[in-house]
Amino acid sequence: MLRYKVPATSANLGIGFDTLGIAFNIYDRFEVEKADRWQFSGFLEEHANVNNLFVKAYKKACAYKKDKAVPLKVELKADVPSSRGLGSSSCLIVGGIYAYSALNGNCLTKEEMLKIATSIEGHPDNVAPAIYGGLCVAGNDRVLRLKVSDKWHFGLWIPDYEVKTSEARKVLKDEIERKDAVSNISASLIAVDALTHFNKENIGIIMNDSIHEPYRRKLIKNFAKLKKLALDKGALAFIISGSGSTCLSISDRKLDINVKGIDYREVKVDGLGVRNGK
Ligand code: HSE
Repeated sequence: MLRYKVPATSANLGIGFDTLGIAFNIYDRFEVEKADRWQFSGFLEEHANVNNLFVKAYKKACAYKKDKAVPLKVELKADVPSSRGLGSSSCLIVGGIYAYSALNGNCLTKEEMLKIATSIEGHPDNVAPAIYGGLCVAGNDRVLRLKVSDKWHFGLWIPDYEVKTSEARKVLKDEIERKDAVSNISASLIAVDALTHFNKENIGIIMNDSIHEPYRRKLIKNFAKLKKLALDKGALAFIISGSGSTCLSISDRKLDINVKGIDYREVKVDGLGVRNGK
């Protein structure tokens, strides 16, 4: 029996659309073993079948190694909330690829896992931190893994409704203006430095996105009110996590947040990514 866990992730980090992501200490936990037919427990009813992302990713990993896809018995304990912008799909994708690798002598490198996972997800910003942990800059078939300063406090504002990534991508523009691209490039570089070096003066730049947040705010109920509350309570930044519906606050201290319909959780950065163990 193989036991392992995959961390939740928050993609984009405001200004890093489809390129930045960070792993947090909320996990989907898996127990898998080879079997004579596919068996699932702990999956949502509609996903307890061979069409789910776990199986798709597992089969892709088998095909990558030109290997036969032996069926598995899979038990999932999912703590990563679904369709909330916390990488629940990536957990299943990385979970499927890792199952194949770990059951077969750790035959895939992290780079290979990332390549397979990105080919399924379409963008690397959730799958990279789910595989490597920490803060990841990913794109152009490369990944840069960075350690976030442990002085930051990260707060997840998890609402009681879902936003589907497919819907949240439909509201985006296909083309962006040059001035917006330039602004996002400089902001993302400054933000990465602020995250890694605990630069309190610069962390707010993470909110200066012009590529996705302006179009997605309307999908988040009371976004402006929640942002104002977060900043009034002492947050230095407040952004949409991934494609929502969760938002992410960043502060230099613990925040006291109590909002009806929002599950506020302070989380720590997961520095390791997918790994064996409970
Ligand atoms: N970068 C992705 C997006 C993350 O914002 O659409 C969600 O999967």
